Amino acid sequence: MMSSPSMAAAAGSSSSSSPPSGGGAAGSLSAKPPQSTRSSSKAAARLLRYVAGEQRLLFSLLGMALASLVFLLLQSPSSSSSSSAPSWTASSAVGLAAAVHHHQHDHHHRPSFEQGRRSRHYSGRVPLGLKRRGLRVVVTGGAGFVGSHLVDRLLARGDSVIVVDNLFTGRKANVLHHAGNPAFELIRHDVVEPILLEVDQIYHLACPASPVHYKHNPVKTIKTNVVGTLNMLGLAKRVGARFLLTSTSEVYGDPLQHPQAEAYWGNVNPIGVRSCYDEGKRTAETLAMDYHRGAGLEVRIARIFNTYGPRMCIDDGRVVSNFVAQALRKEPLTVYGDGKQTRSFQYVSDLVEGLMKLMEGEHVGPFNLGNPGEFTMLELAKVVQDTIDPNARIEFRPNTADDPHKRKPDITRAKDLLGWEPKVSLHKGLPLMVQDFRDRIFSNGDHTTATTTTKQGAGDSN
Ligand SMILES: NC(=O)c1ccc[n+]([C@@H]2O[C@H](COP(=O)([O-])OP(=O)(O)OC[C@H]3O[C@@H](n4cnc5c(N)ncnc54)[C@H](O)[C@@H]3O)[C@@H](O)[C@H]2O)c1
Repeated sequence: MMSSPSMAAAAGSSSSSSPPSGGGAAGSLSAKPPQSTRSSSKAAARLLRYVAGEQRLLFSLLGMALASLVFLLLQSPSSSSSSSAPSWTASSAVGLAAAVHHHQHDHHHRPSFEQGRRSRHYSGRVPLGLKRRGLRVVVTGGAGFVGSHLVDRLLARGDSVIVVDNLFTGRKANVLHHAGNPAFELIRHDVVEPILLEVDQIYHLACPASPVHYKHNPVKTIKTNVVGTLNMLGLAKRVGARFLLTSTSEVYGDPLQHPQAEAYWGNVNPIGVRSCYDEGKRTAETLAMDYHRGAGLEVRIARIFNTYGPRMCIDDGRVVSNFVAQALRKEPLTVYGDGKQTRSFQYVSDLVEGLMKLMEGEHVGPFNLGNPGEFTMLELAKVVQDTIDPNARIEFRPNTADDPHKRKPDITRAKDLLGWEPKVSLHKGLPLMVQDFRDRIFSNGDHTTATTTTKQGAGDSN
């Protein structure tokens, strides 16, 4: 066995460092240790004295305990799932196919996965503007008017944002300034088709909002509201995300109560030309509440009143954009009906603040989000004249069907429960959108959609 030279060498070296033969364990206790052993035990004793002195041992143990605690916290489900979870954001068929494959393959892991996702939900109440861990957020309709402003705020807050938009009324230009930001993605996708994305929150805005656009293809509008909302609710359930629906003041129809509070059930024509939108949104609310009650989904519902600001579609039939574009082009301001119908106008930054407060808060809603300042169409025309062109003429046209006579939000609930109320008055907000319209109209960047040849809607709307 010792024929190998290397083994022999190893045996020799090991015997040279062993205690003298015959000593054994007991012998080593009584025998005088060799020089090297004595000096190492002195060093050990010195080390022990050093560690024991000035409570160094205590502090070392405390340090180790703290380090273990930090390590354990970093291993908690929130951080592990967010860092290791696959990102299903590929817009390509390959990416989607992979995502679907993953979904089928991992079916048996679903309950624990969803539990983990749910349990890591921040219990709301993260004050806006406070630094905190970024979330992964989907904004459907994020290339549109309201959506793009929301995306700006979410990215500024440190979230990762995926915009899902079929660009029907939205524009890439609205989010172009985020191109190259690794926290931003745009997926061209129609919400009527399912999509699988792994996220923490879903802001569901996708839906044409102006009468010109939603009447252009009413069947598609109601499909977007019903099938699109179902798809997004299904996604929220699948990944345990919180879901916010942007409903509308149109759910009140032509209201018989003024101002409109959330408890009012509305006065809606179910078979009119606007029903695809009004009834579509009402159904979307129903679906959201049924997912909330039936599947325990965390939902939030906002009923948005007329909102205006930069990036609105030009010529979309909404009254503010109509008047501003007409005044800039030196065309008469078209007032439908007698111009005495009232609307409230909310500046977009106020709305975005309200949507984010609602999403982060603990209340399901619905919540009216609007500016209670009430203006007749003629008063609005006057503000536009004052802001852009005092000589702008007013032209009266017959009104369209189902145009509500009065619209004014009661925002008591949002004030009390969300601590939200609008801050920007019409006189302050209007000039802020004029420059954007001026740039787009006169630089030929004017956004004319396929529907601009359609007759413009009433002095309404949305
Ligand atoms: N702006 C308002 O005054 C107002 C008032 C009440 C409610 N809302 C609601 O707020 C949301 C946003 O409105 P907005 O004013 O920004 O309108 P918008 O038309 O500018 O934006 C809607 C976005 O949704 C996208 N979209 C439409 N159908 C889609 C589909 N099937 N799949 C994917 N994307 C689709 C559009 O391309 C667009 O980018 C809408 O749900 C609207 O009903 C807005």
